[in-house]
Amino acid sequence: MPELHEVETIVLSEKGLVKPMQLCIKLIITRVLTVIIIGFVVALTGCNTIILSKGSYSPSTDPDQRADQLIAQMTNADKLQLVHGNLPLPPYPVPPPHGAVYWVPGIPALDIPDQLSADGPAGLGDNVGQATALPSPLANAASWDLSEANKYGQVIGLETSAFGLNISLGGNVNLIGREPRDGRTFETCGEDPYLSGMMTAQHLKAIQNQYVIAGMKHFVLNDQETGRTQANAVIDERSARESDLLAFEVTLANSNAQMTMCAYNLVNGIDNCQNDHLLNEVLKGDWGFKGFVLSDDYATESSVPAALAGLDQEQSYGYFFDGIWTPESLADALANGDLPESRLDNMVHRILRAMFAAGVFDHPATVHPIDAAGDAAIAQEIEEQGAVLLKNAGGQLPLNPTTAQSIAVIGSHADVGVLSGGGSAQVTPVGGAALTLPSDCPPNLPPPGGAACTNASQIYDPSPPLAAIKAIAHNATVTYDDGTNLASAAGLAASSSVAIVFISDWESEGMDRANLNFPNDQDALVAAVAAANSHTIVVMENGGAHVMPWLSSVNAVLEAWYPGQKGGTAIANLLFGSVNPSGKLPITFPASVSQLPRPVIPAPSSATGTFDVDYTIEGFNVGYKWFEAQKLHPLFAFGFGLSYTSFSISNLQLTPQSTPSNGFQVSFQVKNTGTVAGAEVAQVYLGLPDGIAEPPMRLVGWSKVPLQPGAQQLVTVTVNVSDPSHPLSYWETSTSAWTIAPGDYTVFVGNSSDNVVSAGTFHVGP
Ligand code: BGC
Repeated sequence: MPELHEVETIVLSEKGLVKPMQLCIKLIITRVLTVIIIGFVVALTGCNTIILSKGSYSPSTDPDQRADQLIAQMTNADKLQLVHGNLPLPPYPVPPPHGAVYWVPGIPALDIPDQLSADGPAGLGDNVGQATALPSPLANAASWDLSEANKYGQVIGLETSAFGLNISLGGNVNLIGREPRDGRTFETCGEDPYLSGMMTAQHLKAIQNQYVIAGMKHFVLNDQETGRTQANAVIDERSARESDLLAFEVTLANSNAQMTMCAYNLVNGIDNCQNDHLLNEVLKGDWGFKGFVLSDDYATESSVPAALAGLDQEQSYGYFFDGIWTPESLADALANGDLPESRLDNMVHRILRAMFAAGVFDHPATVHPIDAAGDAAIAQEIEEQGAVLLKNAGGQLPLNPTTAQSIAVIGSHADVGVLSGGGSAQVTPVGGAALTLPSDCPPNLPPPGGAACTNASQIYDPSPPLAAIKAIAHNATVTYDDGTNLASAAGLAASSSVAIVFISDWESEGMDRANLNFPNDQDALVAAVAAANSHTIVVMENGGAHVMPWLSSVNAVLEAWYPGQKGGTAIANLLFGSVNPSGKLPITFPASVSQLPRPVIPAPSSATGTFDVDYTIEGFNVGYKWFEAQKLHPLFAFGFGLSYTSFSISNLQLTPQSTPSNGFQVSFQVKNTGTVAGAEVAQVYLGLPDGIAEPPMRLVGWSKVPLQPGAQQLVTVTVNVSDPSHPLSYWETSTSAWTIAPGDYTVFVGNSSDNVVSAGTFHVGP
């Protein structure tokens, strides 16, 4: 029993009962001090009104204190100005300054800067201007490398600031593993709350290091685009806490993100942007989020109820907060007492403290050129580290640049560029789009979600794989066929020594994919080429999981995701082995839609009214957890990825902490058993005790190990109970607390979720 006592202590602090109390006391002290200081100033000046000259607030480093000092100088009109965006109509500039997606005008008299935002999360989205098109966040997640994620965020932070903007709307942590057809899959860091939270946290931390407020979105359970404003996610508290909410919790705890964007959809019948439980109790209460909650574009549904439930800023133009779409604006509500002044103060406090905490006041963004060459080099590195080799029969890859004779390059506009993802995440690449095609929305996509898709275009980034392949294989004849005529493509393949088929699938906000297949007859294209050439290599440019009906007939498959600004160069480097693939899937690739919790995507029956999306089917068993729990064999498992070398993982040693409920260490040798340098991602999963209905295993740690041929390294992964990912705990609904169950915990180590061995078991409790 002593260990269970430990657990009770943990539960108290984990649940946040202690921390909020301390925060509360700190806040009270701060407020009291502020009042005393202000009173002192009043006494000194002999005035009834506090007159602090422009910019005279203390340069103290405490963002809360600085926010309160400013608020003390603000009128209610000033405060109301800060809690919503502005219509891009005269007298304000149209479009908003510096190409911002939305903006909140500052208050020059108080030195409060404009809030100007760029979209994310794949670079500067939404037509801000030409910026570095990074590989998709999912590609970056596939590197399983926190330092690569940090570089990714740094590019976004530096470029946002270079455009004169100070808020980044990126950081999509939705757990789309629930719906692999989700059109925004490419924007996310995958299906696992721990991996996705850790990688996204690096993005946001690095953005904020550049004095740009970083946000996480879309809070929460915004896991399909079909009917996104009408979808009501139905889920129980435990499942939510252990899946989608956990991804946000891990992100926040590891990034100190200053903004959270609430999503369009509803959860258990309540709109996300007026959900007191989710915003006030979970986000701000349990997790101690100090920044501000911003609504997604049109996700605000009311003025007073939303403000009271925790919404701090309305993104779009004050439709509700400024009373354009509602009879009661916040100004009215303030006047008649429906909105306490203290709540308005708190909304403004959160916005200002976020600006202070991120350095927006002290390090104002100034417009200057981006480092296009430097950032493109990072984009290339991120793609090279994130591409995943899915198949390599008979050592088909890498191709030998000196002996390759004739290479057929087929399909997907590989002669001009590489595909990118659409919607608000769309980046206009440096150098401009290589090719712009009309959007390819599923038929009959209803507005309003459909509008985001139909207004989008398919953009190809200007990095043609064809030119990059020609540059490396300079002794070979390299010939291109656009792949639209199967006979012509097969003919070229038949007369070539190797055929490289590029296939792509465009994803965008505002739509979900109709199925998991590549569209526009590309499956038939691959089949035709593979029938004509037994050395067929497939390169996929796509947002998320796909089925591959032609898999057994091709020799090699490289998952390049949306590869970004230097995608063509990176792909060529990977195909010819100047870079050894080391990416691992951050999502499961199902074998068919019939394996999914919802083989048919739930859809609304009309343009208005809500419809349920039943997430109780899989609960917290998202992605690989569902496949493990249902004993289903996916096409490719979470964590899977090949290399041009081989690795062994051996000598597994499990060492529980002296109090086992505090966690454990697992160590093992990783050895490069092949002939070229490469990197392996050793993954640590934990199986919780029987009887609490947890998934068979959950990811609790990993280590990416670069090794020269023949070299080996002892790796130790430490898992602590106090980690914000709650690695040993389950959410106990009856006590509303993270809880550690007594019983046997099994530690697994491997190189994909379906290829693990047990490192041993430790026991917690009596
Ligand atoms: C998207 C957000 C985006 C916002 C920009 C919305 O439609 O869902 O991800 O940040 O537009 O205004």
